[in-house]
Amino acid sequence: MRVIIIGPPGSGKSTQADLFSQYFQIPHISTGDMFREAFKTGTILGKKAKEHQTSGGLVPDELTIEIVLERLNQPDCSKGFLLDGFPRNVAQAYALDKILQSMPGKLDGVINIEVDDEILLERITNRRVCSQCGETYHLTYYPPKQEDICNLCGGKIYQRSDDTIEIARSRIIVYHEQTKPLIDYYRSQGLLIEVNGDQDIHKVLRDIIKGVCNDS
Ligand code: AP5
Ligand code: MG
Repeated sequence: MRVIIIGPPGSGKSTQADLFSQYFQIPHISTGDMFREAFKTGTILGKKAKEHQTSGGLVPDELTIEIVLERLNQPDCSKGFLLDGFPRNVAQAYALDKILQSMPGKLDGVINIEVDDEILLERITNRRVCSQCGETYHLTYYPPKQEDICNLCGGKIYQRSDDTIEIARSRIIVYHEQTKPLIDYYRSQGLLIEVNGDQDIHKVLRDIIKGVCNDS
């Protein structure tokens, strides 16, 4: 199973990617998480990425493509993978096509999660994440039982630094300008699976699984 999830910030890519990758037992590869992890461990890549993340812009393609190439070459990706948030522009899509040509198997589908912009802002600004296990909360739909403490591991819950209303607006603009063109790119290859992301989380997952299994 080789799948990509695209969609605007806050559309539920990582929520669905977590559930989907558990269901199909494949690695969930999120470039956003990889950059945040690199920053936490204090690498140069992490520091460079952070500059772009906090402005709401994209991390330069050469850095992004490099980390994805390295990750896809790891043995656990030989049976499949799910890419969350990559590619994010046409140059990255071309680079991914090249990487995939050198790997066995084909791309099974590109899931496009659709959610209106007003809902995205509400979801992003109310998101909280566990600093230890990464569990994602929403202050209204899925609040932690104890304020600021993760239900699963007891870790401290925080708000991502790019989840302010101003940066969220910039990220949505970047999505419309740079990522949206990928919808036509993958549609023209017959790979696009369109899913309504404004539904209950488990209903979205069901639609994704149905779409991928029918298409592959
Ligand atoms: P990244 O971390 O990928 O952020 P993003 O694309 O902006 O998307 P998010 O993670 O904010 O949202 P999501 O769609 O995963 O939603 P989630 O499931 O959390 O990237 C961050 C930055 O890193 C970028 O801005 C860029 O700078 C850089 N970067 C990353 N990849 C890059 C690349 N390829 N090239 C260059 N730069 C790159 O859900 C959101 C909230 O909604 C949660 O609270 C959740 O609980 C809730 N929720 C989810 N689903 C539902 C539902 N169905 N109903 C109600 N609530 C829901
Ligand atoms: Mg995410």
